[in-house]
Amino acid sequence: MALKFITAEEAASYVHHNDNVGFSGFTPAGCPKAVPVAIAKKAREEHEKGNPFQIGMFTGASTGDKLDGELARAKAIKFRTPYQSNKDLRALMNAGGTNYFDLHLSEIPQLLRYGFLGKVDVAVIEAADVTEEGEIVPTAGVGITPTICRLADRIIVELNTLHPKSIRGMHDIYEPADPPYRREIPVYTPSDRIGMPYVKVDPAKIVGVVVTEEANEGGAFTPLDEATLAIGKNVAAFLVGEMKAGRLPEGFVPLQSGVGNVANAVLASMGDNKDIPPFNVYTEVIQDSVIKLMKAGRVKFVSGCSLTVSNEVLNDIYSNLGFFKDKILLRPQEISNNPEVARRMGLVAINTALEADIFGNINSTHVSGTRMMNGIGGSGDFTRAAMVSIFTTPSTAKEGKISAFVPMVSHMDHSEHSVKVIITEHGVADLRATSPLQRARLIIDNCVHPDYRPLLNEYLAMGIKGHTPQNLKCCFAFHLELANSGDMRKVDWNKYK
Ligand code: COA
Repeated sequence: MALKFITAEEAASYVHHNDNVGFSGFTPAGCPKAVPVAIAKKAREEHEKGNPFQIGMFTGASTGDKLDGELARAKAIKFRTPYQSNKDLRALMNAGGTNYFDLHLSEIPQLLRYGFLGKVDVAVIEAADVTEEGEIVPTAGVGITPTICRLADRIIVELNTLHPKSIRGMHDIYEPADPPYRREIPVYTPSDRIGMPYVKVDPAKIVGVVVTEEANEGGAFTPLDEATLAIGKNVAAFLVGEMKAGRLPEGFVPLQSGVGNVANAVLASMGDNKDIPPFNVYTEVIQDSVIKLMKAGRVKFVSGCSLTVSNEVLNDIYSNLGFFKDKILLRPQEISNNPEVARRMGLVAINTALEADIFGNINSTHVSGTRMMNGIGGSGDFTRAAMVSIFTTPSTAKEGKISAFVPMVSHMDHSEHSVKVIITEHGVADLRATSPLQRARLIIDNCVHPDYRPLLNEYLAMGIKGHTPQNLKCCFAFHLELANSGDMRKVDWNKYK
């Protein structure tokens, strides 16, 4: 069946008010760019005519500004799930301007298949290649592409010529059957291939192909500062200690590493530490540091959901496919983030906390308990299932006015039961086999910034009894003080008791 080449504006005409639209990709990698901009333009035009125009949005995770930013600014989002990190979308969500619901990334395809999230009317997919037989080769990110392609009535392909057709073979596309027919996912090591190198769709559903040449909207990482470097070194030293103690095998286990600056720094330090043998990575987001370590022979193989790398690094990969192609595998998030696979492989999972409490609970998402930052992403998928789940964070934020450690988290994403180790620039709190009070002492002594240690020790000294000695009148004093004076260091317990 011949492919029909259309403009982005023509593509947008296939998207109607109230449609639910699924977008390919994961982070800005693999996301469509031209069609979302055209949908946002259509929304603005309809709004100017006094007509309603909003769509429901399913994505893999965060996207680029041409997708989330444009549609948020056009007030074209009826609802949105899952993870996002766009400042305009975040502002819209926190002002109640759209319905956002945060979900574990591995679960989205299953929830879509079961119909819990509503119908998928349209799928907009960025591709490196598309054939008349309906073979779609994704670009640098996969996300929920196979599932939305199968479920959607209409598929719009954005054929981005910046991604060479020769990346065919770098993806492993697999969708599990639904219960009661589901079997184990047969991924035993990060390099195991279980699926197809392309997404196979019914070609009759492809309503048009829009040819583009638009680079990924990757953000640069901030240069490593003293605190992030120290966190990285502490993580590497901790893992070496675990190996020496025989709690991690000498050949090491696959590593999962989260998103952001801290995660990038941690990986760089692990690569630098020669006591750690060359290792495999089984993760969702593949950042610049992994590719650098691969070139240095420190990372042997990486399986992920997206190449969330700078455009410079992406070009390097594309120019050296002979070296990289058998060392990188991109999977749908249902597989890259699958808890079954993570538990089987015995991953070391390293993610970043926004806030932790002294008893080991983690808030990854809500600033002061109310304002959504990004979302839980894959941190829950990996944290609960990993062999060792580590959370890293700088001990303070905003020039020391915010302590990353508080008496009680203002929102909880990961409970004390799943959080095994917390690491800051000051040190390591290994929370395994410890009671709540023991955990609090370890965290205060090893991880908390010295400015906040006396305050948190005073909190514990209030003499509250019980298994977890929380003072329900004072447990949010840090947050209340931040709201009142802008500086958690000013907490006076007497004001709250
Ligand atoms: N209260 C308010 N703001 C805080 C804060 C707190 N307790 N802790 C950190 N911040 C601010 C920082 O000051 C910084 O602000 P800025 O952007 O204005 O400079 C911002 O949050 C990001 O913090 P940073 O220290 O640079 O960390 P990061 O880039 O590594 O991001 C998370 C940290 C938690 C936001 C990020 O890792 C995330 O979204 N995690 C959840 C999803 C996840 O873990 N995914 C990985 C799964 S594989």
